[in-house]
Amino acid sequence: GERGAVEPDLAGRRVVVTAGGTREPLDPVRYLGNRSSGKQGYALAATAAARGAQVTLIAGNTELPDPAGVDVLPVGTARQLREAVLKAAADADAVVMAAAVADFRPAAYATGKIKKVEGREPEPIALVRNPDILAELSADRARAGQVVVGFAAETDDVLANGRAKLARKGCDLLVVNEVGEDKAFGSAENEAVVLASDGSETPVPYGPKDALADRVWDLVVPRLAERSA
Ligand code: CTP
Ligand code: CA
Repeated sequence: GERGAVEPDLAGRRVVVTAGGTREPLDPVRYLGNRSSGKQGYALAATAAARGAQVTLIAGNTELPDPAGVDVLPVGTARQLREAVLKAAADADAVVMAAAVADFRPAAYATGKIKKVEGREPEPIALVRNPDILAELSADRARAGQVVVGFAAETDDVLANGRAKLARKGCDLLVVNEVGEDKAFGSAENEAVVLASDGSETPVPYGPKDALADRVWDLVVPRLAERSA
């Protein structure tokens, strides 16, 4: 429908949003990556800016135009994303982890391109765990009352897995998407349930990623602490 002037309910607030997906290099020409386009994170950044926030967008390997009035910091790997988000979070009222962070990275990086060897099968790729950035942000809040939001893509038992994940991560809100062959990834539309640590569940019907972003900010705003300094 017709949209009037946007309520500046994030005026004076600093928010950090991560978007896109991390890439974990294997050698100078190859990486382990994922299918995240970054559209949902960009929508969160753009809607927060439209509502008056000062926005830092930490973008992993996206090919999208910078949203107007948003500071965009490009990153490659999960460890680079972690460093950038922890730094930006130091003075943030809210942090939204919309990025698809690689759970694992290759245990070793080959400084030269990995070559085939005639008559030999390839070596398996050994992986190690990446840090869990959302859990870390939730456990060590940079400011008292900082609101931390996670995203979860689930293929099965969406609500049960989402509830367990919210508790495990310790965040305030978890936006749970059902993903599948042609759901969510790369699409301009999204459908979700937002689970909150107070037990509430807010379903968001299928629609544009901007609309889901606005519903997320609607749930963040009443949870923001008074900003004294
Ligand atoms: N996340 C993170 N650091 C990681 C992995 C995930 O900060 N190393 C964040 C994502 O940005 C997202 C949330 O955690 O906001 C949930 O990601 P998801 O992959 O669903 O959770 P995992 O704990 O990795 O669980 P799973 O084994 O289902 O992948
Ligand atoms: Ca994961």
